[in-house]
Amino acid sequence: MTNENILIGSAIIGQSGGPSSVINASAYGVIKTALESEYITNVYGANHGIKGVLDDRLMDMSKEDPAELELLLHTPSSALGSCRYKIAEPEKDDTDFKRILEIFKKYNVRYFFYNGGNDSMDTCNKINRYLKSVGYECRVFGVPKTIDNDLFGTDHCPGFASAAKYIATSVMEVSRDSQVYNTGMVTIIECMGRHAGWLTAAAALAGEKGDGPDLIYLPEVDFVMEDFVRDVKRVYNEKHNCIVAVSEGVHYADGRFVSEAKTSGTDGFGHAQLGGLAARLAAVVKEELGVKVRGIELSLLQRCAAHCASATDIEESFNSGKTAVESALAGESGKMVGFRCDRTDGYRCEYVLFDLEKVANFEQKVPLEWITEDHAHVTDDFIRYCAPLIRGDLVVPMEDGLPRFAKLKKVFA
Ligand code: F6P
Repeated sequence: MTNENILIGSAIIGQSGGPSSVINASAYGVIKTALESEYITNVYGANHGIKGVLDDRLMDMSKEDPAELELLLHTPSSALGSCRYKIAEPEKDDTDFKRILEIFKKYNVRYFFYNGGNDSMDTCNKINRYLKSVGYECRVFGVPKTIDNDLFGTDHCPGFASAAKYIATSVMEVSRDSQVYNTGMVTIIECMGRHAGWLTAAAALAGEKGDGPDLIYLPEVDFVMEDFVRDVKRVYNEKHNCIVAVSEGVHYADGRFVSEAKTSGTDGFGHAQLGGLAARLAAVVKEELGVKVRGIELSLLQRCAAHCASATDIEESFNSGKTAVESALAGESGKMVGFRCDRTDGYRCEYVLFDLEKVANFEQKVPLEWITEDHAHVTDDFIRYCAPLIRGDLVVPMEDGLPRFAKLKKVFA
């Protein structure tokens, strides 16, 4: 490191948005690397993301037992606490930004790492812009996370592969269960992903083992109820069984979500909470076909299934946090760590930096050419893309037959 890159001060790591099986592995990558750095004087965890900064609720990571911190590699959900808080445009309303600056000055924060998805990268980008505009030297970094896999630029996002592995595994298990009786059955499995169908597409991996879904519906294309009923009827008549994987975000041509259950309104970003689609489609199938049908909403089960995490995902998540700190120490700022992958001869993943400005608020969807012409399945291109990401099996730390998750003391500064 050259002398002019040296910046001495504290670091904050915050987590934001929906959790995942491996978001804590990324946070651990940041915390461990920052604690080991001679230039980072204190490492603070913001309690509930940017809300924790605004409310001056910072946890001193040096007070944690290193063995408990290491357990973060296998501990799901956001250990520091998350938030869905939409911050204003700094040029329009700088109230929150002034407060953030006040807290940064109070703790001499010179490194800020924000661990999240699209909306979180937007927050991170705005903070970077504001701090630059007032001439406060601070290196700001996005550490990616989203099971939705829709962050711009990067090959894939930490968290996606583990949720994908859980979905493919669950589809295999459900497929076996759905065939036990000599009576027919239709099973509809609803996966998360509001605007991008990556997670639902991952159900196709089960097909590689002979237990995959017959039909897959993604939000990248318009949903047509008549086509859905026709497809299910055709498969059921052929096999006396039909497994459907469907994204919570499927919508009609006019943009309306097929899911009716927007159970608790919208979150801080104005996003509708989806769900209830599997039950709704099951009711339609029952009405139209009159056969036995089950709707299964994977809901939160797919998001924090750390027992079924991908070892590749854990390793890449840890490394993305580590790379963020190393890059910040080397003088970079205003970036998000991302992945560039080569699948030509095996699988190789390289860590690269993307401008936060470019990443913020762009959603990366499943390419339309990876969706079959009938809009009811995905092509082998998707399988080639996704298969290497879910590999790697784990030995999960256990206690009394149950997973042993990290227990943080959460000592506030
Ligand atoms: O984190 C992304 C996501 O998992 C979406 O797929 C899903 O629609 C949403 O979060 C649910 O969010 P919440 O936890 O706020 O209900």
